[in-house]
Amino acid sequence: MRSKIVAGNWKMNKTYNEMEILLAELSAKVPDTEAEIMVAPTFVNLPRAFKMLESSVIEPIAQNMHFAESGAYTGEVSADMLLGIGIETVILGHSERRSVFGETDEILAKKTIAALEKNLRVVFCFGEELEDRKSGNHFNIVDNQLKDGLFNLRPEVWSNIVLAYEPVWAIGTGETASPEQAQEMHAFIRKTISNEYDDNIAENVSILYGGSVKPGNATEIFSKPDVDGGLIGGASLNTDDFIAIIKAI
Ligand code: 13P
Repeated sequence: MRSKIVAGNWKMNKTYNEMEILLAELSAKVPDTEAEIMVAPTFVNLPRAFKMLESSVIEPIAQNMHFAESGAYTGEVSADMLLGIGIETVILGHSERRSVFGETDEILAKKTIAALEKNLRVVFCFGEELEDRKSGNHFNIVDNQLKDGLFNLRPEVWSNIVLAYEPVWAIGTGETASPEQAQEMHAFIRKTISNEYDDNIAENVSILYGGSVKPGNATEIFSKPDVDGGLIGGASLNTDDFIAIIKAI
């Protein structure tokens, strides 16, 4: 049985003090839910987030990591460093990492293997650009991203993977995929995984939708059978909006 998940990706937002205020509010207001709730603050705030959330249902997670164990990688963070402060889940492959920081499918495959080898859970992001959607190439793009990023993995590790389909044209634009477009792609993703692995893995992996999810559209998007929750950017920075989206699941 796959989990429902609502995760807030805070990106490069919230200073230490701002995060303390947001986390205190979220912890106080988070509703009882069977869904897993996660937030991803910036690296420097993670230890504080971990402390603040020790007795909360909200899990602090990381936005990224490097594939190497350690070494001469100025500015990078390793899996062991995350584990050392109690972090158990990491987002990999966010479109901003791909487009702004040049992370390729090959790099992301290495990062995913490194994280899973350390028993970190991976929220693996992917999705097509606007031109791909316009030219009808979106299924191909997603197929390739899955193949190149994940399909070299052993079946056993899939229980530690969460997928996040984030069409780039919907991220931070206010334009969201329609619930039908999200469902159509999520069903395609599940079928692709079933073809590559088996039905069991495909049925048990949670597939989140990300891209301009707001309180006003969350219920409809989450109601689709293959949408298991959301990866939320902008709206997760505001307590009332994020709580409303959690309630929608
Ligand atoms: P927005 O919700 O701001 O569109 O961002 C989505 C996202 O990139 C989450 O990772």
